[in-house]
Amino acid sequence: MSEIVRQKISAKAEQFTESVIREMTRVALQYDAVNLAQGFPDFSCPLELKQAAYEAIEADVNQYAITWGDRPFRHAIANKVHWYLGLDINPETQITVTCGSTEAMASVMLATVDPGDEVIVFEPYYENYGPDAILAGAIPRYVTLHPPHWTFDEAQLRQAFNANTKAIIINTPHNPTGKVFTRDELTLIAELCQKWDVLAFTDEIYEHILYDSTQHIALATLPGMEERTVTINGLSKTYSVTGWRVGYILANPELTGAIRKVHDFLTVGAPAPLQRAGVAAMQLPPSYYEELAKLYHQKRDSILQILDQVGIPYFVPKGAYYVLADISKFGYKTDVEFTYHLIKDIGVAVVPGSSFFSQPEKGHSLIRFCFSKRPETLQAASDRLLKLQSTLQPTS
Ligand SMILES: Cc1ncc(COP(=O)(O)O)c(C=O)c1O
Repeated sequence: MSEIVRQKISAKAEQFTESVIREMTRVALQYDAVNLAQGFPDFSCPLELKQAAYEAIEADVNQYAITWGDRPFRHAIANKVHWYLGLDINPETQITVTCGSTEAMASVMLATVDPGDEVIVFEPYYENYGPDAILAGAIPRYVTLHPPHWTFDEAQLRQAFNANTKAIIINTPHNPTGKVFTRDELTLIAELCQKWDVLAFTDEIYEHILYDSTQHIALATLPGMEERTVTINGLSKTYSVTGWRVGYILANPELTGAIRKVHDFLTVGAPAPLQRAGVAAMQLPPSYYEELAKLYHQKRDSILQILDQVGIPYFVPKGAYYVLADISKFGYKTDVEFTYHLIKDIGVAVVPGSSFFSQPEKGHSLIRFCFSKRPETLQAASDRLLKLQSTLQPTS
């Protein structure tokens, strides 16, 4: 790139790279690898959603919806959230519908964070939060989640809070570790948010994907937290429609006002017919979520069995649909080298662990497998991964 062109790029955009997760999908396509990298299901979404989407398009719901969300969808979200989380949300003043929870987090940060404010992020973290913070001008403060159970150190968390802290991001169930924050952990976070007058942004997109009787607790339901919690969610994962780009934000009316303004000028709104189909999603019966959890339980057990067979140690996830594996025994210098070996020579794409850390070396011994895949896909990955044994680099 010429120097003249390079100088035109903003300092913000210079500070982050393209998404490694999305890049791995492109490399997987190039090498015809089984894609266990990017987090999307390779199976169908519920028929009810497809039908509702066809019907909405057929009925000419094809123009802009109200910028902060189609009214029937907002009301359906409020009902579902009341049922599942026990939260009373006013659909007229407390919900913003966005283009996925990705836009939701960006809009929330831009609406609440000023340059120089600090935002606490648990590390490893879903890679979008880094660029989101940079775009908002925030200074990220990382708090480490320690394997094997991805717990954090109370003293480190307490130290991270200070007078400049504007917000803390909590992702539960957590990508990439599969951690589900416990009530005790959330209670401590709630106490510190109140002590330091800090907002909490919770990304709860995997709220229904839980294992081993683990329970999802929404931070907003803890005493004193409803007003200062911004809850982010979306249709992508629970209803297997990652390409629809429909998400939503629950927040108090004042914050919602600011978030809606940012959202409006960023995207105007989420796809109108797909918001109508979102009503069908929100009205699915409780049995839908029970079946979904069962389905994912089987998938999790399958991938763990595969990793056992191949001999790759891993950290058992309690929620979400990823498993982090420890590759240190394979003798590669970095996770990225190992990932390229997996994609090119073995034919399975994963995400290198370094993409979930502020300092790449912290993730050099980790890779992430996504297991939201059909049994045939997991079987194909298993067949290929077994070849790994014969191509191992000797450990020094
Ligand atoms: C924690 C987390 N948040 C948000 C997203 C993106 O969700 P959406 O499709 O709603 O933008 C993902 C996708 O992988 C994720 O893992």
